[in-house]
Amino acid sequence: MTSKRSSANTDSLENQFQQRLSTNLTLISSLFFSLYEKEKNAVFFYRLLNTMEDLFHKRPKDLKNLDIDRLQKGNWYQSEQLVGMQLYVDRFNKDIKGLDEKLSYFDELGINFLHLMPITTRPEGENDGGYAVNSYHEIDPTYGTKKDFANFSKKARSRDMILMLDFVVNHTSDEFEWAKKAITGEEKYQDFYYTYPDRVIPDEFEKTLPEIFPTTAPGSFTYNHEMKKWVMTCFNAYQWDLNYTNPEVFIEMLTNLLKLANMGVDVIRFDALAFLWKKIGTDSQNLPEAHQLIALFRMCLQVIAPGVILLAEAIVAPRNIIKYFGEGTLEGNECEVAYNASLMALLWNSIATKKTSLLYKSLIEVPSKPMDGTWINYVRCHDDIGLGYDDDFIRHMGWSPTEHRKFLLDYYCRDLEWSPSKGIVFMYNPKNGDGRITGSTASLLGLEEAITQKDEQKIKQAIAKILMLHGIILSYGGIPLIYAGDEIGTLNDYTFKKHPDHKDDSRWVNRPMQDWDTVAKLDSAKNHTTEIFNGLKQLIALRKKLPVFADTQAPIIHPSPNEHIFLFERKNLEQRVWVLSNFDENSHFIHVSWLLSVGMLSNEKFVDCISGKELEIENNLLKIATYQHMWIVKA
Ligand code: GLC
Repeated sequence: MTSKRSSANTDSLENQFQQRLSTNLTLISSLFFSLYEKEKNAVFFYRLLNTMEDLFHKRPKDLKNLDIDRLQKGNWYQSEQLVGMQLYVDRFNKDIKGLDEKLSYFDELGINFLHLMPITTRPEGENDGGYAVNSYHEIDPTYGTKKDFANFSKKARSRDMILMLDFVVNHTSDEFEWAKKAITGEEKYQDFYYTYPDRVIPDEFEKTLPEIFPTTAPGSFTYNHEMKKWVMTCFNAYQWDLNYTNPEVFIEMLTNLLKLANMGVDVIRFDALAFLWKKIGTDSQNLPEAHQLIALFRMCLQVIAPGVILLAEAIVAPRNIIKYFGEGTLEGNECEVAYNASLMALLWNSIATKKTSLLYKSLIEVPSKPMDGTWINYVRCHDDIGLGYDDDFIRHMGWSPTEHRKFLLDYYCRDLEWSPSKGIVFMYNPKNGDGRITGSTASLLGLEEAITQKDEQKIKQAIAKILMLHGIILSYGGIPLIYAGDEIGTLNDYTFKKHPDHKDDSRWVNRPMQDWDTVAKLDSAKNHTTEIFNGLKQLIALRKKLPVFADTQAPIIHPSPNEHIFLFERKNLEQRVWVLSNFDENSHFIHVSWLLSVGMLSNEKFVDCISGKELEIENNLLKIATYQHMWIVKA
């Protein structure tokens, strides 16, 4: 009886593959041949189809069942129940087994989605935090074994915890097996990368390729003496860009992607995907071919493992980010999730300016994402904060884009008396004044300085700012991703300056070791860490009680009569929540007429469910305190 049922189940699983393949075959073949000329590459297309079938057979049965479950559930990634944390496994609690020991910590806070930073093998010494990969699926011994990961992912699955891992799709390390073969002269593998015998083509490329790490890795090509060739290295010299104009590279990388997915990974973070296609005469970012390639990955995944979704790590201009959800004929066929880098950078702009006008203008002008997609909303991550605002919008505010960016670098990074912030400039280019910002949330928001000065008032303000920014990412619509350490207000970690492999990369100031001593004292201590932790825990629990926070309807951004106040509304058929924030260090009064105009206070009682207090109107005015953040609902 049992065996019959299981063989019927196996048969139906096989059918699913065939069905999904026939549904998507036309699109897959048109994407493939739009990138790879048909006459020369038909043989590779057949190879791709065989590879897909083989990869499907290798997908573990429990994951195949999960795929079907998820297909039936629809857009599970838009749920208000999801709350994520990003962490470095070694810096969090030593290794994968250590992570397992901390599952109760995630439960306590309400975290059920983890982004684990790279854990696969990488070169010794400098390796860009593991983003230089020696393998896409071999676990680096520092973190444990494949078995440890398999056990952890199984346990995570049994607790409905979602796992996200990186797929460094744009480049490998120079120690990756293909790179090693290329170095020893194997032409086949030299063609897996962009390699050239002289500077002719590299010079042409470099005329328009922007530099990613101008101070530590200038230029976009590196000469390899053993290979006697130049190789394209857009990031660091030890990160070799993969040559996707070669169809074999695509097929091999699809295989690597599936091997990673088959380890029990639910969300794949497509690292640096804007750079996937290179063309002389362009900046080689966001090119149409890159989108076709991502859609091709997506559609193959849709056939082999449709329960797995893709996150676009495209830290590019707002209008370009949206395109990674898929545009035109590709709508819905690229990534399901994208980083909301625009919201993140705009929030930091509002903190520095204490004004919300650029935030408002930028959010209402950017075309909305497709209904099926969702955001990762975040305050800080392991990288720098780029000042990628739309220059036209900055001008619209009456500011000069260059001067405004200089102001932001001054505010966050120059340790000036008028700013509470303690950030560090990243990749400053004196030629054009461009730079980016690094630092932990708490230090950037003034907690470090307030603690040094033992200024209780400033400590309170910093806490209010930390909770306000997190309140926004928890309510905006999408998956909130909290950066590990921020839940206890971790300050900058300056020890990177003494580390030989980290000292030139100030992003390490915000990659601290998790402070378990502080965590152990959370219950007993009455201090800023406890207040931040409890505040965040309360916000997370509240989010999960409000189905209106599921990302099924776009937030409505309301214009504000007061430039310090930011208001957006989340709405479904049953409920409305108004999320109101004051970005100023002063209190403000707003007139009831505005509240009425956006739908509040119409003869009913309204409460802020964060403080649990009813809105109190005096003389037709509502007082909003310094950095106050409210989630307002009808009582
Ligand atoms: C992504 C990562 C970043 C890394 C880069 C190159 O942007 O977030 O940390 O340096 O890719 O892999």
